[in-house]
Amino acid sequence: MNDAIAFVQTPKDIAKLMISLISENKKIQKNISILDTGCGKGIFLKGLQEAGFTNIEGIELSKDLYEFCSKKFPHVTLYNDDYLDWMSLKEYDLIIGNPPYTHYNSLPRSSRSKVVRIVGNKESDIYYAFILKSIELLKEGGELIFIVPYGFFFNTYAKVIRERIIDNGYLETIIDLDETRLFEDENPETLIFKFVKKSLESQQNIRILRIKERNFKPNTINNKAAESLSKSKENEVFTYYERAMFTHESEVWTTYPEKTFSDFYLLKEVCWIGVGLVSGFEQAFILDEEEKSLLNDEEKEFLVKSIKAKHCQGYWTDGFEYYLLIDKRINSEAELKSYPTIHKKLISHKDSMTVRYFPASNKWFHWQALRNYAKLRSFLTQPKIFVPSLDRSTENRFSLTEEPYLPSGDVLTLVPQHKNPFFLLGYLNSKFFREYYLSAGARRGHRISYTQRIMSNVKIPVFDQETENKIAKIAKNIFDGKNTAKRKEIDEIISINLK
Ligand SMILES: C[S@@+](CC[C@H](N)C(=O)[O-])C[C@H]1O[C@@H](n2cnc3c(N)ncnc32)[C@H](O)[C@@H]1O
Repeated sequence: MNDAIAFVQTPKDIAKLMISLISENKKIQKNISILDTGCGKGIFLKGLQEAGFTNIEGIELSKDLYEFCSKKFPHVTLYNDDYLDWMSLKEYDLIIGNPPYTHYNSLPRSSRSKVVRIVGNKESDIYYAFILKSIELLKEGGELIFIVPYGFFFNTYAKVIRERIIDNGYLETIIDLDETRLFEDENPETLIFKFVKKSLESQQNIRILRIKERNFKPNTINNKAAESLSKSKENEVFTYYERAMFTHESEVWTTYPEKTFSDFYLLKEVCWIGVGLVSGFEQAFILDEEEKSLLNDEEKEFLVKSIKAKHCQGYWTDGFEYYLLIDKRINSEAELKSYPTIHKKLISHKDSMTVRYFPASNKWFHWQALRNYAKLRSFLTQPKIFVPSLDRSTENRFSLTEEPYLPSGDVLTLVPQHKNPFFLLGYLNSKFFREYYLSAGARRGHRISYTQRIMSNVKIPVFDQETENKIAKIAKNIFDGKNTAKRKEIDEIISINLK
């Protein structure tokens, strides 16, 4: 089977669940035209036959897999062809399957150009092309049911997919399976979606199921998803809710409920927000106490105290790292030699540092990215809030410090300017804000991504002054006492106020 691109078998129960999503009016007509794209060993073909469908076709690139299916499914029409440049003679009532997932950069050369021709950029995954081609091959009123990674919901380069979906019809159902272990080797965050190629006649909602944890087995997933969908209700495996259709105004798509409030301002109006400083070679620039004690006075000028994600405790920071921040104050190796301790440390890493990525105007011993450096220095004496750029913890870790720390590359910095820093600290660490932020499209698998782009456009609800003061007071209390027991009090105040 070595001529297959990304063959991974879908569990039988997941295929069954997807087949159960076919609309009732199609299920009763057993001869609707169906195509399984990248049919592999035929897990969908088998499920479709068992459900009584008679007009089934499958396309598979791998000769071995095609032959395997030809023997096993004599009543299915099979094509041994590349779906991406296959000239179909007809359109389909239903296209279903688990297409290959492989990023452009990892595709064989022959497939790359086909993906670019269909999707229009080199940052795509092959499954984007499968979605677009399938939308094209559906009849009006036809349905597309795929299981794919979640990336096309938020990736900038997948905007074309989101637009094409909106322009040609609508998503009727989404089942977000997160990082559930479904496949043998890799477990990307996947979702099942059902798209209908039809313009919306009346206001209709998307039904969204999201799995509660990732250890459920396919059989349970199948049964509980069916139950949740038929009762329109959540159960122990899935959350259930309905939301308005995504529109062209939706910057990213998400499976979290929308949180809306009418009176708000943007976080960027009350905070400076920026990324941290990237050394690009940690071992060379971080100093331990002993190394630090060897620096002479001139060398100490390069010493900075820096906060990394691991120092963000939520509300407060704990510890910091000493770094040598080498920038354009030193411009040649000869100059570097006049700082003997620094030279000795850096030169031992020269080979590796020379081959790492750095801008053409830099020397090998410079930091990789010092965007915002001047700004960040000017904020040294002000209260700053740091948050890990990518965070796995279950509660938000916005962490305030009044110490003269700089942020390293794995944290985002907020510098409150027109708001009480403790009010912002309390609000950003609240449960409400966490849910709001997830609904803004910030989830990456089991982590949350705090980026300058998403954070800048965060909407903060307007609270009256008394409420702001209350939140600030509790937040200061948590910060001073390093005790998070009172987090809940802030959650309560916010939920009462935003009712
Ligand atoms: C993720 S596997 C899924 C297999 C099967 N549908 C299942 O769910 O068990 C994707 C399948 O697509 C096939 N494939 C990859 N690229 C293809 C292409 N360009 N055209 C047709 N099939 C392709 C692979 O050989 C593989 O069998």
